[in-house]
Amino acid sequence: MDTQQSHMRRSHGFTKSAALLDRSRQSLAGGVSSQFRAMTAPHPMFYSHAKGSRIWDVDGNELLDFTLSQGPCILGHSHPELLDRVTAALQRGQLFAGQHMEEMELSEALCRILPCAELVRLSLSGSEASHALLRLARHVTGRPKYLKFVGHYHGWFDNVSFSVSPPRAQTNEPPRPVPWGGGIPAALAEEVMVLPWNDLAAVEATLASNAHEIAAIITEPVMCNQGCIEPAPGFLEGLRSLCDRYGIILIFDEIITGFRLGLGGAQGHYGVTPDLALFGKAMGAGFPISALTGKRAFMEAFSRAEVYHAGTLNGNNVSVAASLAVIDILGRDDAAGYRHIWRLSTRLRDGLAALSDIRPDLRVQGPGPMFHVGFSPRVRATTYDHVLDYDKDSYRRFCLGMLSRGVRLIERGLWYVSLAHEDADIDYALAAAQETLQEMPQ
Ligand SMILES: Cc1ncc(COP(=O)(O)O)c(C=O)c1O
Repeated sequence: MDTQQSHMRRSHGFTKSAALLDRSRQSLAGGVSSQFRAMTAPHPMFYSHAKGSRIWDVDGNELLDFTLSQGPCILGHSHPELLDRVTAALQRGQLFAGQHMEEMELSEALCRILPCAELVRLSLSGSEASHALLRLARHVTGRPKYLKFVGHYHGWFDNVSFSVSPPRAQTNEPPRPVPWGGGIPAALAEEVMVLPWNDLAAVEATLASNAHEIAAIITEPVMCNQGCIEPAPGFLEGLRSLCDRYGIILIFDEIITGFRLGLGGAQGHYGVTPDLALFGKAMGAGFPISALTGKRAFMEAFSRAEVYHAGTLNGNNVSVAASLAVIDILGRDDAAGYRHIWRLSTRLRDGLAALSDIRPDLRVQGPGPMFHVGFSPRVRATTYDHVLDYDKDSYRRFCLGMLSRGVRLIERGLWYVSLAHEDADIDYALAAAQETLQEMPQ
């Protein structure tokens, strides 16, 4: 292992984190503010500070971070220019709840860089954005239902909380909407149709008889939340032409792909332009912001107040400044930052894949800036059912082995690379993965 970084290997254990978690559970439900954090192995951790590609926990462990805080921290942690610009914005006031120059500059920038964006609205989270865009789609088409894909996640609001991660028994043909936990009105299941992803024939067959009641098809352009599965050749193009044929609104949920595959998001990367799209996470580099974007003809329903979208904190000075900084930093020098992220992430992804000579069921797939790692008898996952074949226990052991070597990973297998990562970080992670795999039972 790289000797310069070998100090990270000394794990100080996680006893302080564990004790704080016990205390926190008395006041904070489950000790977390987002359910996804409860999935951390061996348990949710407490952190003290973070800088660049590293984050430090309260036990004094320095961790090389490939979670990017579930994706947002595309510039790494505490990027100096980002913090300077956010601080300067804050000095001018935190929230005007009125219009300001930077908000306008951001909306102009989004319309310039995002292929589908002719008008935008700013919001705070991805969940709000998908909610608002589905509402918009229902209004402009006058149709009541929407179609989503099994295993795709579009936030935690009621209308999209179906078939997020259903058990295999509930994905059988034809898949039915499965509520994601309790409290979701059963009546909402009437408004959603679910289909397996990457299966254009299934979409075509469903639309042939149901198109008249379907307002929108919403899809992650890469199935990031389950297996990081890329669209099959022609799948996104096929959705585009089916939507055109049947007058259905095509919505790309670019909360993960946006500002990560490039400034133009997945729609720029794959060359398919949806009618509407939502952005968040990397767009704000760790500050709360999302964008509802799309074709003017549809988005004007917000302008005319036929469809309501609101939010007290929308367009706040801090989040807007952060997003402008992301666009400047990653866009400068002909997008040199993206070239860096792609080069390092491709090295890391391919280096990990090469370790399958140690563990033949090791599987690595995904475009690069984000990719998925897991253990499966299946060589390649192309849809949700294949993701269910991943051996979760083995991956959990892998995460724990990596953690003991100072590498922080997301337990469901998604890896992210930031602008702050360097070649030495990739070398270290690959060496740590090699050691971890060698010590794991085969
Ligand atoms: C694809 C996708 N859409 C929507 C969301 C919801 O975004 P937020 O957590 O900002 O509400 C997420 C969050 O992980 C996501 O991955």
